[in-house]
Amino acid sequence: MLRTLMCDLLDIESPVIQAGMGAFTSAELVAAVSNAGGLGSLGASQRTAEDLQKQLAQLRKLTRRSFAVNHLVTTLDEEAFALTLKAQPRVISLALGDPGLLVKRAHDAGIQVMQQVHTVAQARQAAERGVDVIIAQGSEAGGFGGMAVTALALIPQVVDTVSPIPVVAAGGIADGRGLAAALLLGAQGINIGTRFLASVETPIHPQWKQMILESDSEDTVKVEVWNDIMPTPGRGGYGTVPRSLRTSFIDEWQQHREKAVREAERLQNEIMAARQQGKIHELAPFAGQTVGLIHEILPAGEIVRRLVAEAEEVLRRANKFLK
Ligand SMILES: Cc1cc2nc3c(=O)[nH]c(=O)nc-3n(C[C@H](O)[C@H](O)[C@H](O)COP(=O)(O)O)c2cc1C
Repeated sequence: MLRTLMCDLLDIESPVIQAGMGAFTSAELVAAVSNAGGLGSLGASQRTAEDLQKQLAQLRKLTRRSFAVNHLVTTLDEEAFALTLKAQPRVISLALGDPGLLVKRAHDAGIQVMQQVHTVAQARQAAERGVDVIIAQGSEAGGFGGMAVTALALIPQVVDTVSPIPVVAAGGIADGRGLAAALLLGAQGINIGTRFLASVETPIHPQWKQMILESDSEDTVKVEVWNDIMPTPGRGGYGTVPRSLRTSFIDEWQQHREKAVREAERLQNEIMAARQQGKIHELAPFAGQTVGLIHEILPAGEIVRRLVAEAEEVLRRANKFLK
């Protein structure tokens, strides 16, 4: 059975975390992951406090297992954070900025804190703040992340820096081989976004899921112009840049970054309108390099079960390298 110390800490069966992805998560997705033995994460970003409350109420009906609620430090909505504390999830996961005093507020409410970082220096700072788990995210990841350092290089460095705090690997992982590799690098679990975007329960447009199935890793790009248009959350906190599948919007504006700054307000309105209409994938379907590994849409629980079964198999077979 695949189990790490972090599973005990978070009271989960398997070391698989479905990443908080703002409004691209739902109570149904989170419950499917948690009920399969992983840790589902409900994203608070890009949704109103009212919607978060509704999702949390629904989630409590769908699972009695551990789950996380994810907040972005740079765009923190105080009302949403306060109601998260009240809702008492097992974990609050934070990203894109120094967790600072949020750690104490969560701990005072009896909630553990998981912080996502992209560099060794950020990991050191998060450890000093007293977080319980640190997610080390490599630049292969979908959504906001560092520009350059990949997971293979970053994870062991973060493990060395913050030990004994458990480290979770993120970026570039979509199957059991990736999970096994992360554990061998010293991580105690994985935090996956892109693989879960292509799940049955994920509340994104079907075309976005289809784009993931049809894309190769090279089809994802770092979108610097996104931060020219929308300075937060990326530029504000850890200086991150989003990774997305290419679209004509991205191709055009990446070449006209100064013009994008001048026209930021109009472009922001275009982005907001696309979000409201559920069509953000037409402009920027965030996704990571693992798109090249994803060939079918699966129920989220099945994704967790396959990840674990494959990792167990790979780890068993790894013995053959020892002569
Ligand atoms: C569409 C999308 C939205 C994301 N939104 C968030 C978010 O709101 N908060 C967060 O902590 N991470 C977010 N992430 C990053 C994930 O936490 C995670 O680090 C990343 O997906 C891991 O890499 P992978 O995509 O290769 O699995 C997002 C990722 C994606 C693909």
